[in-house]
Amino acid sequence: MCGITGYIGPRPAIEIALDTLKRLEYRGYDSAGVAFWSGDHLEVMKRAGKIQHLTELLNGVEAHGLAVSHTRWATHGIPNDPNAHPHTDENGTVAVVHNGIIENYLELRHELGARGHRFSSETDTEVLAHLIEEQLPLCESPEEAVRRALQGVRGSYAIAVMFTEHPDRVVVARHDSPLVIGLGEGENFIASDIPALLPYTRRVILLENGDLGIITRDSVRLMRLDGSPIERPPVEITWSAEAAEKGGHEHFMIKEILEQPEAVRDTLRGRLKPNGGIAFPELKLELEDWQKFRRILIVACGTAYHAGLIGKFVLERWLRRPVEVYYSSEFRYGDPILQPNTLALFISQSGETADTLAALRLCREAGYTTMGIVNVVGSSIARECDHVLYTQAGPEISVASTKAYSTQIAVLSLLGLYLSSVNGTLPMHTYTEGVKSLMQMPSLIARSLETEPQVRQIAEALYQTPLAFYLGRGVDAYVAMEGALKIKEIAYVPTQEPPAGEMKHGPLALIEPGVIAVFVSTQERTREKLLGNLKEVKARQGTVFLVTTEDDDLLPQEADYTVRIPRLPMEELSPLVSIPVLQLFAYHVARLRGCEIDQPRNLAKSVTVE
Ligand code: M6R
Repeated sequence: MCGITGYIGPRPAIEIALDTLKRLEYRGYDSAGVAFWSGDHLEVMKRAGKIQHLTELLNGVEAHGLAVSHTRWATHGIPNDPNAHPHTDENGTVAVVHNGIIENYLELRHELGARGHRFSSETDTEVLAHLIEEQLPLCESPEEAVRRALQGVRGSYAIAVMFTEHPDRVVVARHDSPLVIGLGEGENFIASDIPALLPYTRRVILLENGDLGIITRDSVRLMRLDGSPIERPPVEITWSAEAAEKGGHEHFMIKEILEQPEAVRDTLRGRLKPNGGIAFPELKLELEDWQKFRRILIVACGTAYHAGLIGKFVLERWLRRPVEVYYSSEFRYGDPILQPNTLALFISQSGETADTLAALRLCREAGYTTMGIVNVVGSSIARECDHVLYTQAGPEISVASTKAYSTQIAVLSLLGLYLSSVNGTLPMHTYTEGVKSLMQMPSLIARSLETEPQVRQIAEALYQTPLAFYLGRGVDAYVAMEGALKIKEIAYVPTQEPPAGEMKHGPLALIEPGVIAVFVSTQERTREKLLGNLKEVKARQGTVFLVTTEDDDLLPQEADYTVRIPRLPMEELSPLVSIPVLQLFAYHVARLRGCEIDQPRNLAKSVTVE
């Protein structure tokens, strides 16, 4: 996720660029830049770090009527000056800002390189500038050059393009990444998101996938990528500026919960091929390297640790090799048994968690192959690991981790399927089933999220509970642990989360009227056993809230409240559709209890102390 803004009109364009960018800082903040018309040529100024650094760089600089700007959340290439946007071709003929991921950029870069193009960044975006520049002399208009250049591009993008030869316009296009056009009198604006534009205009056009726009001071002309003209009526925005930053939601947490289909789609993008193959183009590991691992170690904290437990479940099932999961803080002082041919995975949203970093350094000293599953590009864990698989969740602002968790599971599932295919440990039809389920995952998660109105009603009935049990078996027990962490950290509800089969060995003593038990049930083979556990709770007058699959007609008979989620042919992947319900439940309970949801007491987003 990155933020794009742009302005064309009589006002000081640089001032507007900086002001609008600041309003999009929640979309990314590792570098920023602006391309503007200096009066006789196109100029680009950009800098790593927060927008404040760019502001200092631009002190005293003036633009004439036209600027496009960008705040970056790195996906390809570390956050430094050359990788910051805008990107240009060698001659500075075009400048491009981009939000999204170009899937086939390596291929395109290679082809452009063979035709003599030289690159100055590691980004996927830069290929767009070169592709457009190549088309310019062949086309009648700059918009035609953009349209043609995009024809060979796969992936997601929202782009804004400026041209040295055409300082009267900005050309924009979108596919799978948002872009809006703000309409003014004798001036127009663009932005990735509405909040950036609210101080200037409330009349916006929301571009749709496959739209291309030509924006001048006085006009906005739209066409489809096939060249056919199209009209999109403007809408009037009535949100407050604060609500707009959260996409019209009350909190970042709910915004981020609802972003999960898109975050998972972005994470799978480029790795899960349409033909069912899996590839990690960013890793420099040969087939024999993958085959040599006899054991896998996963080290993480909090929510990332819970994702690691799901990783253990899928990897052991599919790969039939031992997987150990450690809390980072325990690994370091736990005198771990270090063995050869171990792949050590470090999972972290921030990439800065001190305990995980310390464990990583220990593993490096032991000579393990280390691999990070990290969200923040260029973070310490990402830099210090031998290999990194980035989750593409975009910035996660709420302290409670939600979309980072789903994208971590998506990466672990891809890794599990990939490793079992290169080691031949999974029957072909099971592999195909897994790939198919992952391909459908964004829409399956979206279906789970549709339960929100029902979950909110259940929260209204249960929010005053003094104690919540979270119960499941197998992979559902791990999801239950994450559900419990969510309600504990944001709603301050005490929880117990043993595997359901452990209840009668002690925790059952805590069940009494008023106590709730949230059951997660996605696996056919443990359903009858879970029925026994559910009855144990009911017999002691506990209240049961059941999250189960749409085909279950056994457990709902005993539950007080039931929410149904999609049934997946591959049960190992069910956490991705069950967790949204638990996140939504925690969110609504916290809201009803009047809690500070995005910044819960005593907690920080990134824990950089041991
Ligand atoms: O940045 P990390 O993923 O390394 O952070 C690990 C934990 O601190 C984090 O997952 C924490 O448990 C979450 N805020 C819980 O929602």
